[in-house]
Amino acid sequence: MNVINLKTIDSTNNYIKEHYEEFENFTFVSANFQTNGKGRENRIWNSNENENLLFSFLIKDKFLLKNYKALSIGTASLIGGFLEEMGLNNVMIKWPNDIYVNNKKICGILLEGNVNKYIVIGVGLNVNQEVFDGIYSVTPTSIKKEINQNIDINSLKILLFEYLMKHINNRSFKSNSLKFYRSHDYLLGKKITINNINGKVDGISDNFDLIINKKYISSGEVI
Ligand code: BTN
Repeated sequence: MNVINLKTIDSTNNYIKEHYEEFENFTFVSANFQTNGKGRENRIWNSNENENLLFSFLIKDKFLLKNYKALSIGTASLIGGFLEEMGLNNVMIKWPNDIYVNNKKICGILLEGNVNKYIVIGVGLNVNQEVFDGIYSVTPTSIKKEINQNIDINSLKILLFEYLMKHINNRSFKSNSLKFYRSHDYLLGKKITINNINGKVDGISDNFDLIINKKYISSGEVI
């Protein structure tokens, strides 16, 4: 594992994308602040300076790239499990990779790259931030807001990086991810719209597709 800690950067995802050739598999890059933090669907990811975990890590391992579909839900499931181990309750995963606690969003994940060469997994985990200015479609929360405790971000960071690397390299990563997701499925049974399809969510397939009206959806934004 290689760890690079930056003070300020445009986006830790961009930083790894610019350097993916020279960086090794499982290079983690964190920042105290991002000037151009990116969310999914071209959204902006805002975070106060020094209050949250903002990081990305690089995957170049051939086996993991081949099984890239597991990485999105798998990373969300691992962070969800990590939060439960910290004592948070009502942790849920909203397909494909948002983490909710008590119906509020605590963590967002953005995957980028080219599956033939590399994947960057970017994670924004709200840790100590208590005030979230701005307009959000889902109310944000943080670890501190949920357990009323200030967290040492640097210690948490090292623990989480080690946890992610260890579990992603585990031979049961895919099956563990499916199991965790299925027991923490935020959308299960809910009526939603995705890619112009309306219906009730039946869960996910063994290939991590969302199942709605017996149709398998591999990407899209849930409304
Ligand atoms: C989302 O829920 O829309 C995904 C948010 C991902 C945010 C993280 S913060 C670290 C990394 N760098 C970025 O620019 N984005 C991701």
